[in-house]
Amino acid sequence: MRIAVYPGSFDPITNGHLDIINRSSKIFDKVIVSILQNGNKIPIFTMEERIRLIKKAVNNITNVEVDYFSGLLVNYIKQKKAKVIIKGLRAISDFEYEFQMALMNHKLDSDIETLFMMTNANYSYLSSTMVKEVARLNGPLSDLLPKEIIDDVKDKFSELRRKNNGDS
Ligand code: PNS
Repeated sequence: MRIAVYPGSFDPITNGHLDIINRSSKIFDKVIVSILQNGNKIPIFTMEERIRLIKKAVNNITNVEVDYFSGLLVNYIKQKKAKVIIKGLRAISDFEYEFQMALMNHKLDSDIETLFMMTNANYSYLSSTMVKEVARLNGPLSDLLPKEIIDDVKDKFSELRRKNNGDS
């Protein structure tokens, strides 16, 4: 069975991520979308929320699993009996960091390959960070996020706005 892991923060999943998941699910028997726990970034969405949002977005793709991990990615990949890390590449600016990470992962475990997929040109400008900025400022999210999760993301930011107003 050819198993691939698509790791990331997914805070939240965007249309760019979903495109990579869709395409990789046609190449592999199983794709595990796995969320990093305790990474350097402080997420807006809790782990439970991120899992739920991804599950909603990939509901119609049968060979995709949603999971989370902590520690070294290569150890997790081995534990899942996978051999391939999937990464999406948007722009040249992604390249250097991703290149370093792929080489480091290969150094840590030479059985594991990183497969880069070029993002769909329609989504090359998309990142979770930019989407959060648009959501925070109450902008339109329809081309940015999977339609199934737009209301959840809006609700989350309304809740955050309410909390912030309450605090001040
Ligand atoms: O969506 P992101 O934040 O760009 O994802 C980054 C991620 C989770 C893929 C990366 O930070 C990661 O793999 N972290 C786990 C720790 C690890 O194994 N690092 C690589 C070797 S230093």
